[in-house]
Amino acid sequence: MSLRLKTPLLAPHRLLSMIRWSSSAAAVATEHKEQPRLKTFLVYRWNPEVKGSKPKMQEYKVDLNQCGPMVLDALIKIKNEIDPTLTFRRSCREDYKHLQSMEDRAKLDGLYECILCACCSTSCPSYWWNPDKYLGPAVLMQAYRWMIDSRDEYRSERLAKISDPFSVFRCHTIMNCTKTCPKGLNPGRAIAEIKKMLATAS
Ligand code: SF4
Ligand code: F3S
Repeated sequence: MSLRLKTPLLAPHRLLSMIRWSSSAAAVATEHKEQPRLKTFLVYRWNPEVKGSKPKMQEYKVDLNQCGPMVLDALIKIKNEIDPTLTFRRSCREDYKHLQSMEDRAKLDGLYECILCACCSTSCPSYWWNPDKYLGPAVLMQAYRWMIDSRDEYRSERLAKISDPFSVFRCHTIMNCTKTCPKGLNPGRAIAEIKKMLATAS
């Protein structure tokens, strides 16, 4: 288990409030692959189960080496792969399907801006508890970004890869991810959309 907790966890729905990503504390322990690459996450909270408990800053660490595949097949895949490098440049009619309408392009707003900083994943209690099985919001945000790209032709394959009880469905809509994202993005919504896709795909 990669996550090292210095303090006990509360139930997710009780997890509190003012969340602050400590970028200054984003520590890289060492460049050696075998060594942990720790990011520190600070949460200001109190324990509602302890009478008179006062809020205080509590610290958690996540090992980025265990942060799951950061990009889930994050490429536009084109089934006609005779010469994919030319597909967006050729003007012959059969390739027009790979161009994008203004409406389809607009669907990527709020997704393409993700910088894969992993603040969302490190703030997610579900990810704290199952970092080896749950993909976490950063990866799922990327997965969704490609699934809804009108040029991508492998949506069903991508969905099949994550169609299990853990990869997506360990998200319990806690929404720390969205509150924490420094870019103001909404990975919680992206995950909800993936869940809908999986429900209708099965
Ligand atoms: Fe970072 Fe936001 Fe992308 Fe998560 S969704 S990786 S917090 S930019
Ligand atoms: Fe975690 Fe965000 Fe879901 S905080 S549980 S990924 S809504």
